[in-house]
Amino acid sequence: MSEPETARKVFIHTFGCQMNVYDSAKIRAQLARDGWVATDCADDADLVLLNTCSIRDKAEQKMHSALGEYRRRKRRGAPLTLGIAGCVAQQEGVALLDRYPEVDLVFGPDGVPGVQKLVDAARSGQRVLDTTFLDLENYPFVEAVDPDAAGRVGAFVTIQKGCDNKCTFCIVPTTRGVEVSRPSGQILDEVRTLVACGIQEITLIGQNVNSYGLKVPGERTFAELLRAVAEIPGVARIRYTTSHPRDMGPDVVAAYRDLPNLTSHLHLPVQSGSDRVLKRMKRFYTRDHYLRLVDDLRAARPDLALTTDFIVGFPGEEDEDFEQTLSLLSEAGIVGSFSFKYSPRPGTPALKLVDRDPVPDDVASARLSALQARQRALQLAWNRTHEGRVVDVLVEGPSAHDEGVVCGRTSSNLMVNFVGDEALVGQTLPIRVTRSFTHSVRGEQV
Ligand code: 5AD
Ligand code: SF4
Repeated sequence: MSEPETARKVFIHTFGCQMNVYDSAKIRAQLARDGWVATDCADDADLVLLNTCSIRDKAEQKMHSALGEYRRRKRRGAPLTLGIAGCVAQQEGVALLDRYPEVDLVFGPDGVPGVQKLVDAARSGQRVLDTTFLDLENYPFVEAVDPDAAGRVGAFVTIQKGCDNKCTFCIVPTTRGVEVSRPSGQILDEVRTLVACGIQEITLIGQNVNSYGLKVPGERTFAELLRAVAEIPGVARIRYTTSHPRDMGPDVVAAYRDLPNLTSHLHLPVQSGSDRVLKRMKRFYTRDHYLRLVDDLRAARPDLALTTDFIVGFPGEEDEDFEQTLSLLSEAGIVGSFSFKYSPRPGTPALKLVDRDPVPDDVASARLSALQARQRALQLAWNRTHEGRVVDVLVEGPSAHDEGVVCGRTSSNLMVNFVGDEALVGQTLPIRVTRSFTHSVRGEQV
């Protein structure tokens, strides 16, 4: 069906994590119910929303610079409604309206379920601010199935919002509020609907999935939820993110032994290899606990590929703490990691440590480079262990770089490119790995 010429168009500029990517998809789905059409081109949009991230200062600065372009367009007289959503909106609130006269609308992550009303109010000429957190009782998880799911192989499903932890560096509890678990019945219904659309790989997302359901009497635990999802016919692969090492119990470890469709990849952010630093971060586990947990996981699933997050330059981090982080990388057999320089965030408990014990920026930068170099070497080495072997690849789509090449992943999240037709998308094929690079391997059909 062709769209009417007059359809109102929305462009969403998304920053940050998968949670935001998914929130943007939900915003598009909500607005579509009111006749809005999503566009990939900001220039012909009637509504531009920036869905923002405040996890580190860099992410926040990216949004301010992107905003400049949209503000200029508006000042030139474009009939544009301009909104800021997401974590920076939640954190800065009215300050954004005060600072940017061109901005019509500011709302936080909890504004997503009611976005249509907020947009209508902004279009009627009001300047709209909504940073209230919704009631925890009957929290309105947006029912819409991931609107981008059709024609794809994998989809996200929200299982939880917010976070009750208080890691001292982290702004998430401020911007996304307390943890609420989505009722498991709703989650399982959404998974069934997705599978009926052809989705094979389900990624359950939440800020701290291991504490799923614990606050709700009678609710499934995370391990029970994994089992229930695994039993749904058609679910070929289950992934999830993010886990906290303290909360990962033996029942989830056992799931790696029992559930073949739970993938052989786990992202388990450790943040630091030093107990002293972990304590200051209020992570509530030790290096030793992490290593034992990894041993248990490997006993349950020998081919488990482990990835993690690191923060370097956290206040008070000494050379020997950083050495502990470097050595953890190999000791835990980590095959991939995201690493960041500590970025002080407004209102977080670590700010008082920054005043007392800052790590000079050049020291933090040098540590980051050293960690990333070590990580790249380990990742390449792991990728090389696949050379000559045949691996099962779920084909996801055409390669972004090479014509006539498709890409997919193994259960262990190894990215594999091989010559093939787009008609292979959705199939799981045996592929012989022929060459390795740092972030992917090349292979051929067997
Ligand atoms: N500075 C640097 N990195 C951070 N992260 C979270 N907060 C900060 C911060 N203030 C990193 C953590 C987390 C990932 C999503 O972002 O490593 O796991
Ligand atoms: Fe932030 Fe810690 Fe919660 Fe993760 S577990 S979102 S790092 S407070």
